[in-house]
Amino acid sequence: MYVYDAPYNKMRSAEVMDCHVLVIGSGGAGVRAAIEASGYGKTILLSKTLAGKGGCTPMAEGGYNAVLREQDSCEIHYGDTMKGGSYLNDPELVRILVAEAPERMEDLLRWGAVFDVTDCCEVAQRPFGGQSFPRTCYAGDRTGHEMMVTLIERLASTDVKVISEVTVLDLVVESGRVVGALGLDGKGNIVAVRADATVLATGGGTQIYDISTNSSSGTGDGFAIGYRAGAELIDMEMVQFHPTGAVYPYDARGRLITEAVRGEGGVLKNALGERFMEKYDPVKKELSTRDVVSRAIATEILEGRGTAHGGVYLDVTHLPRQQIEERLPVMLEQFLKFGVDIREEPMEVAPTAHHIMGGLRISPHGETTLPGLYACGEVTGGVHGANRLGGNALADTQVFGKRAGESAGRAPRRDVRIGEKAIEAQEERLSLFLGGEVPPSTVVRSLRTAMWEGAGIFRTARDLEKTLGVIAHLSSLPLLARTRENLGECCTVQNMLLTATLVVRGALLRKESRGAHTRRDVVQAWDAQTSPYGHTYQSLTRSGIETVVRE
Ligand code: FUM
Repeated sequence: MYVYDAPYNKMRSAEVMDCHVLVIGSGGAGVRAAIEASGYGKTILLSKTLAGKGGCTPMAEGGYNAVLREQDSCEIHYGDTMKGGSYLNDPELVRILVAEAPERMEDLLRWGAVFDVTDCCEVAQRPFGGQSFPRTCYAGDRTGHEMMVTLIERLASTDVKVISEVTVLDLVVESGRVVGALGLDGKGNIVAVRADATVLATGGGTQIYDISTNSSSGTGDGFAIGYRAGAELIDMEMVQFHPTGAVYPYDARGRLITEAVRGEGGVLKNALGERFMEKYDPVKKELSTRDVVSRAIATEILEGRGTAHGGVYLDVTHLPRQQIEERLPVMLEQFLKFGVDIREEPMEVAPTAHHIMGGLRISPHGETTLPGLYACGEVTGGVHGANRLGGNALADTQVFGKRAGESAGRAPRRDVRIGEKAIEAQEERLSLFLGGEVPPSTVVRSLRTAMWEGAGIFRTARDLEKTLGVIAHLSSLPLLARTRENLGECCTVQNMLLTATLVVRGALLRKESRGAHTRRDVVQAWDAQTSPYGHTYQSLTRSGIETVVRE
């Protein structure tokens, strides 16, 4: 550890901590990466929230996809994932996901995770959307919570130093290589960590939308931090709208109603009582992929067949009460709090922004395009293509969390320091907020409305351009931090604005409808398998869309 003494009175001195691997983010991917990295040297984990309490993993309900039965196979899981992702997925990453998901599930079981089991004591599996086999393993409808408790316990048995409630400001790049990061503690003091290798595992960012399943920490920090440091991001336009979010009460809008409800046999009906999914996907119906089901629900609502609260019905009243009580206890309890007994009456649901499929481009070993920087989990792109299958995200956190942690652990020791300039630049940035004018909450409200209206399920170039204009205006406003304790909030809002910019720019680059990205203004003569386009890419130095040459 060394101390950087600030030259000016207005600046604080910063203690620089030193480690071999720095992991940023304490969701499923970050904790898995830290557990793995700890075997190679001193590891520090920085978490914006209380470690293990933020992020999306603890909120994940439905399950974890893994091939566990003889009747299933990695080939089938691979095919389902590629088809579900409209063939935009990186095939090598998908091969790794399906091959290693069962082994990472074994790790969790060995570490004490309690998944539901069959009468023969095998891990139970349920059907989820877009899958040819019921391969989603679950712990009731609180699967992510069970995983997170297990991972945090395992983490406690390592000597990883966990530092909670630190907002990461930026990565530090020296001579083209990431050498650590700077953050802010709860009091507004700068925290500096120098590392031989840094793993970004900050999760998603759908808090940029008005209606979202994400926890309050899903603000896209990693996308923005990675981009500002010079990493390349792909397919940022690919935002998944989960078909079933709560519609009311107002405060619960967007809250996840797990796909497991449909996996257990729940059916969707419009206000006329029609089981409308038969029209949109006569074979898979409610268990079609999320992009298809979300568009179907949105269409029913837009065409006037929605409920009074602006949703559609999700009905499980035909299922045995015991099945609902045992397999969907959180849903049952949650809706009872809303005044609805789902054993007796239908839920009302509508699409909600859930997952960003794009993100930092990674190699199979979790290396980003920026030396010294690794990434895993939702902050990365490529695994899920244009639409993620439900249940593949939890598997992704474990498979690529382990890989990124291992690669970072194997990185060579380096004799570099965090330069004074990096800390001074952040102090400069922060001092502007102390003299700012506009409360961050005002900016966030406008951003969310603009994104929901202009970059939602259905998109046009006109709406996207308009949204980009709104974001540019919001980005130009001088954000206000009343005290140093509020500085982190201003940085978070800047990250949200940059993430939104990347999503909208990506959506403009992709002049086709594919997976979750529907361009209403583009007439196209191809389907996903014959598309001339590959990934969109954006970095500080280049942006565009890859073209695919077919023979
Ligand atoms: O519907 C759900 O339970 C969500 C699962 C997922 O996003 O993988």
